[in-house]
Amino acid sequence: MSSLNQALSVALDNRQSLLVELHAQGTDCYRLFHGSQEGASGLTIDRYGPQLLVQTFHNTLDRDALLALHAAINAHLGLALMLVYNDRSHGNSRIDRTDAVYKAEDAALEDLVGHEWGLNYRVRGRHAGQDPLLFLDLRNARGWVKDHAKGKSVLNLFAYTCGVGLSAAAGGAREVCNLDFAEGNLAVGRENGKLNPHLPDMGFIQSDYFPAIRQLAGLPIASRRGQKLPSYARLEQRQFDLVLLDPPAWAKSAFGTVDLLRDYQSLLKPALLTTAENGVLICCNNLAKVSMDDWRDQVLRCANKIGRPVRDCQVLTPGVDFPSMDQQPPLKTLILQL
Ligand SMILES: C[S@@+](CC[C@H](N)C(=O)[O-])C[C@H]1O[C@@H](n2cnc3c(N)ncnc32)[C@H](O)[C@@H]1O
Repeated sequence: MSSLNQALSVALDNRQSLLVELHAQGTDCYRLFHGSQEGASGLTIDRYGPQLLVQTFHNTLDRDALLALHAAINAHLGLALMLVYNDRSHGNSRIDRTDAVYKAEDAALEDLVGHEWGLNYRVRGRHAGQDPLLFLDLRNARGWVKDHAKGKSVLNLFAYTCGVGLSAAAGGAREVCNLDFAEGNLAVGRENGKLNPHLPDMGFIQSDYFPAIRQLAGLPIASRRGQKLPSYARLEQRQFDLVLLDPPAWAKSAFGTVDLLRDYQSLLKPALLTTAENGVLICCNNLAKVSMDDWRDQVLRCANKIGRPVRDCQVLTPGVDFPSMDQQPPLKTLILQL
């Protein structure tokens, strides 16, 4: 057995009880191999419903290795998952897609449906973006939101494909609003809504974060060095009972820079002000080099400074399909009761 297959076999064994639990709760989207922590840095293997998504970030996988791990996983799960391999080791994939294995079967590339916490999600092995349409390490946060959204107004910031919004709707939120500047991501969010027709409709705001959150928070929108700002959606000042702030590590727009290393505060402050008294703000930081202790101190200090002290702060960790040897998972999540 190759060392990769050996590492995979250990990873699958370690997930035995988790998979039983996930299947029982209506989840068939999860990580089967988290290479950086399980013996093959730069390789991830995820199940998305009927699809097995293999991704490499450092080195391309050769054909035989790919076929061997596909066969081993299907045998272990007793399923016939359809393989999609996306090599992201050189920016965009450069593997030879004339090869049938690398190309993937047509059926594997169709619009498919995966499930999490009993909800249906659009799954697409290849699409205009690089990332899969559902970030699996946020599953526990979506579960928390589903369990705590009843009767609440919910604002999902940096909504991507609106998984958190969908979870809130499923949990009985009275209102759900998803905000993101990327039309394509919100379009998948709308699809996710349609895939769950029993749920109430969600709201969508297509806007840059900075002008939107500052208007909601009642803060002025500053232009940088007197430069004229592009037009932006007008919003009334208001607060929500439950707010989710899960930004990307870094992104620049005409209105500001999302920078989780150097300036979390400029994202956090308006989000705190947009959270109602006695409300909850769930905030995340997915940058591995930021430690939980430092970041939590920063968050709590910022809340104190703007007069919205945190009454209770709970740490939420990703599921055990995202193991971390040092107990410091890159995705850090805090549930702040204000
Ligand atoms: C890492 S994803 C967030 C994941 C998401 N919270 C989830 O539940 O899966 C980053 C998202 O932020 C959006 N984004 C990045 N910069 C933005 C900005 N300045 N304003 C609004 N959305 C932004 C991107 O379009 C993308 O959908």
